[in-house]
Amino acid sequence: MNGLQLIATGGALPERTVTNEDLSRMVDTSDEWITTRTGIRTRHYCGDAENAATLAISAARQALERSGLAPEDIACCVCATLSAPDATPSVACQVQRALHLPEGCPALDVNAACSGFVYGAAVARGLLATLGGAYALVIGCEALSRLIDPADRSTCVLFGDGAGAAVFALSDEDAPFAVTLGARGDDAIHAGGPDRKGSAPITMDGKAVFRFAVDALPRSLNKILQETGLTLDDLDWVVCHQANSRIIDHCVKHLNADASKFYKNMDRHGNTSAASIPVALNELAETGKLKPGQKVACVGFGGGLTWGGILFGYKGD
Ligand code: COA
Repeated sequence: MNGLQLIATGGALPERTVTNEDLSRMVDTSDEWITTRTGIRTRHYCGDAENAATLAISAARQALERSGLAPEDIACCVCATLSAPDATPSVACQVQRALHLPEGCPALDVNAACSGFVYGAAVARGLLATLGGAYALVIGCEALSRLIDPADRSTCVLFGDGAGAAVFALSDEDAPFAVTLGARGDDAIHAGGPDRKGSAPITMDGKAVFRFAVDALPRSLNKILQETGLTLDDLDWVVCHQANSRIIDHCVKHLNADASKFYKNMDRHGNTSAASIPVALNELAETGKLKPGQKVACVGFGGGLTWGGILFGYKGD
């Protein structure tokens, strides 16, 4: 069982959409500045009754339904988030309860910021290989609107809320698998926890993070390609963390790659950290662009600092 297959996806986005024009009425910014620097036009913010866990449950329920599997088939549940509403129960345990996953199914949250979904998928595959079981539920969910300073124009324009979920299976068939993960402790992106008395919103050294991202992204992608002996031409889709359109454009140019394989949706959702990759996978699947048998590489990079890439096949639901 060396391969990894994506079986089904799900997604959930808050109804409230916040446009660049909306933000320009709150801080000194403009649609033109945000669009040209980031490619972001709109993002979603949670309403009072929504949070990272409610979004995670909706996305996970959809992925499980589409997989055609029963809750008992899920052998582990891993949720990537940096904006869980509660320290405990974890979002993964809240999903376990809501979806009636079996009690023998380990459930845990992973915090690797914007690399979280890649880390989560790697952890889930490791759990399947160690504990046994065929199917893993992996979720990325965020309510970053709760962590931003709405008066800080350098960060509040970038982030949004959402969740995506994926059911993965260990596979003996033709599905490829490779993973790479890395970390370098650094405060270039920072958000406070309980010790900060609730008053430490996200801060970021934008230029340093940009330089880090355009190095980490192609390095991670090349590493998983080398491990599998595949080339960029063999991949059908590259789903990068949707931080900023210019980061992806920079890497496409550096790699001399086919830009149409690099999916982008940050124009509609902004940077949703751990949710951005599974939200993008779900859109690709829902629109029929992702086809059974295709090979996908996902690459994450961000707070920690962390980075990682994972390569798998798509079975389809
Ligand atoms: N609207 C208008 N002006 C803004 C602004 C906004 N929303 N945010 C910052 N500015 C201003 C700054 O105050 C600065 O003004 P000054 O020259 O008068 O001091 C000017 O724009 C340039 O700021 P700077 O931070 O140097 O901009 P930049 O060109 O580096 O772009 C980012 C800022 C954040 C878009 C860019 O650094 C970036 O994309 N970084 C990567 C961030 C990212 O993707 N992080 C997530 C990774 S997981």
